[in-house]
Amino acid sequence: MSFGDSKAIVTNQDGLNEHLDEVVNKHLSHPFLKPISDHTQQAFDKINQQIAAFSGPVILDSCCGVGQSTRILARRYPEALVIGVDKSLNRIERNVEDEHETDNFRLIRADLNDFYRLVVQHQWPIREHFLLYPNPWPKAKHLQRRWHGSSVFPYILQIGKSLTLRSNWLIYLQEFQRAAELAGKSGNISQINDEQPLTPFEAKYQASGQLCWQLKFAQL
Ligand SMILES: C[S@@+](CC[C@H](N)C(=O)[O-])C[C@H]1O[C@@H](n2cnc3c(N)ncnc32)[C@H](O)[C@@H]1O
Repeated sequence: MSFGDSKAIVTNQDGLNEHLDEVVNKHLSHPFLKPISDHTQQAFDKINQQIAAFSGPVILDSCCGVGQSTRILARRYPEALVIGVDKSLNRIERNVEDEHETDNFRLIRADLNDFYRLVVQHQWPIREHFLLYPNPWPKAKHLQRRWHGSSVFPYILQIGKSLTLRSNWLIYLQEFQRAAELAGKSGNISQINDEQPLTPFEAKYQASGQLCWQLKFAQL
């Protein structure tokens, strides 16, 4: 598949997943007890020392892929330390040409199902949290693989003063919005019309003529 030829989402859902409320309410009322994996604990401990020694604001770029958005955010917020997290070492280590790269960002390989819980436990001073183009898992039976259907969802809502999600699947964002509403948080959805794409997936979708959407919680 070439650039500009990205397929639109194929799903057997025509609206919010019918089990959404039930699944989210279950996670909101039960703690997530699965043990933290060693590799994520080690990655967290290392970056945690830098966060503890840093007095400025922290920005979290979850599912950062190759880290293009992490680098853009680091330029946009020179006073901040921007932490990009992705489970794929291959993506994180990919060479991204950026001649204006600043040094106020770090890319970390970790599983966010564990990393999020450590961030909450250690009360990182996160000003903004970005979750850009998470894997959509568009089949109805995969609801629990979406972030709002996962056991870690209640922790996500405890991270950052504000939270921004982006997706080319509007239903994903509408579901996340509803899930957050069940936890008493309210966010707004709008269409993105940025001239400069923030991530490679955003660039790919826009080049294919697909609409991209943003869900923003200005105050969590
Ligand atoms: C569709 S890609 C989007 C990447 C980037 N945000 C972009 O827009 O170009 C989704 C990313 O989420 C990462 N990811 C999925 N599950 C994850 C998890 N549990 N922990 C960390 N990263 C994860 C994948 O490795 C992948 O890089």
